[in-house]
Amino acid sequence: MIFETIVTTVAQDARVHVAPMGIRDEAGLVLLAPFRPSTTLENLLASRCAVVNYTDDVRIFAGCLTRRRDWPVVPAERIASVRLQSPLSHSELEVERIEDDDVRPRLFCRRIFEQTHAPFRGFNRAQAAVLECAILVSRLHMLPWEKIETELKYLTIAIEKTAGPNEREAWNWLTEAISAHRAGRDSSNPARSI
Ligand SMILES: Cc1cc2nc3c(=O)[nH]c(=O)nc-3n(C[C@H](O)[C@H](O)[C@H](O)COP(=O)(O)O)c2cc1C
Repeated sequence: MIFETIVTTVAQDARVHVAPMGIRDEAGLVLLAPFRPSTTLENLLASRCAVVNYTDDVRIFAGCLTRRRDWPVVPAERIASVRLQSPLSHSELEVERIEDDDVRPRLFCRRIFEQTHAPFRGFNRAQAAVLECAILVSRLHMLPWEKIETELKYLTIAIEKTAGPNEREAWNWLTEAISAHRAGRDSSNPARSI
């Protein structure tokens, strides 16, 4: 099972990096698998730690894919890193073991501290639609336009029926990136297929 989260890391020059990333549980450890090249990977290899943030603010997912990476962070509790300012909860991780790979290394991390900040209020279809649209945006360069159009049409139903202001803002950022891609001026930041 894969959980979509926001991973925060810090570079050696103290620059903060915020990136959406799918994580898995593997025998009690958190498995992170960033595709090369990746700033998250570089920071993890250098600092040996990261924070996994669990958030329902889908603007952060959409924002990171559309060059809006400047999200508020605060220092982590137990590691030399940062977490998002307002996640639902977060886990502070230390890298325990690395399986290196030219394409997608696997980093097995130990949770050394966890904290809950706000309750989970339930599933929202518009949030799921924004996540699906973010994945679409990350694959724009490899998908035929007909597929993008069909998926957008379906996802729009959940946005129209169930979105709040954050979901609408995130959706607008993503659909702008898709329009720009269609018009041939790629203003999104689709790094690679996920
Ligand atoms: C929901 C979601 C899940 C993602 N999961 C991964 C992942 O598991 N591995 C990965 O390399 N990129 C993943 N991405 C794409 C990265 O967030 C994006 O490419 C990012 O720029 C990673 O590169 P960076 O570490 O240089 O920021 C995901 C994107 C989204 C929207």
